[in-house]
Amino acid sequence: MMYISDKMKYPLFSLAPIHEYTNSGFRLLCQRHKAKYTFVPLVNTTAVCKGKIKVDINEMEKNVTVQLSGSKPEEFAEAVKIIEKKYKNIIGFNLNAGCPSYTTMKTGAGSALMKKPEQIFQIVKACKESTSLPVSVKSRIFSEYKKTLELYRKIEDANTDYVIVHGRTVKQGYAGKADWEVIKELKNELCIPVIGNGDIKTLKEGKEKINDRYCDGVMIGRAALENPLIFEGKEKINEKQKKKLILEYYEICTEIGQNDMNNFKIVSAQITKGVRNASSIRNEIMKCKTIDAIIKIIENELK
Ligand SMILES: Cc1cc2nc3c(=O)[nH]c(=O)nc-3n(C[C@H](O)[C@H](O)[C@H](O)COP(=O)(O)O)c2cc1C
Repeated sequence: MMYISDKMKYPLFSLAPIHEYTNSGFRLLCQRHKAKYTFVPLVNTTAVCKGKIKVDINEMEKNVTVQLSGSKPEEFAEAVKIIEKKYKNIIGFNLNAGCPSYTTMKTGAGSALMKKPEQIFQIVKACKESTSLPVSVKSRIFSEYKKTLELYRKIEDANTDYVIVHGRTVKQGYAGKADWEVIKELKNELCIPVIGNGDIKTLKEGKEKINDRYCDGVMIGRAALENPLIFEGKEKINEKQKKKLILEYYEICTEIGQNDMNNFKIVSAQITKGVRNASSIRNEIMKCKTIDAIIKIIENELK
């Protein structure tokens, strides 16, 4: 079964979409280590409609949801059809209505949509008319709870299958703490499943949030970048495990022909966080000109 049950189509524990990090290679790495649900980050609907991009989905991936970024309902409708026709292993679509980056916002996409709940409504409606797969929305919160509730009520009214709530305001970016009390309030108010997101460090913590009725499911981002074994329940990973993971990532990238130097650098730098001499290893990695050079550093420097 793809989701928890046919009636409840939402991911219980998922890997968050993280632009430039969670590409197909990294998603496959996490999938091998029990991340059941993953999301393709920020696929631009305009570019899909113009046939300008190939969506980064590998055929070995399972239970992958495509996150779309854009602002025009008609482009979403078309992009959904194009993507669904081409990639048979996807299980849903997600609308990004929370990205705080200026480049995204200035086009009216990402968190700019939070100010236009009616437009989110129209986008979800357009997607739902184009696909029978679940359509979800990932957004943030306002500092004023009333506005947050109004936003999510409108999203719910559009027949959205579930929402992913990152418990931070746009102004916070990724700083400060995620407000889980607001996530809990939303779970109490809404009839659709609420996936909570923000600052979850271990699977145990995520399970507690679900058991304590803060949310129906949990999405994990940055903690999984440092510890891709998080979905197996491993809380701290040692140097040997980190080395093994980077080599495994290399193996996956080679197998799928993913030769993205920048991605390999930033992923290796994240995984090596916390090891002896982490900052000098990171500096060395950043200077590398080839993936093989990074692998040499990992083999020599990590026990
Ligand atoms: C570098 C970076 C890139 C991100 N890219 C995306 C993205 O493409 N789409 C998205 O919905 N969220 C993106 N996020 C937000 C994460 O998905 C997640 O909501 C946020 O990091 C909070 O969860 P965490 O505390 O578990 O990391 C990004 C976050 C970071 C730090």
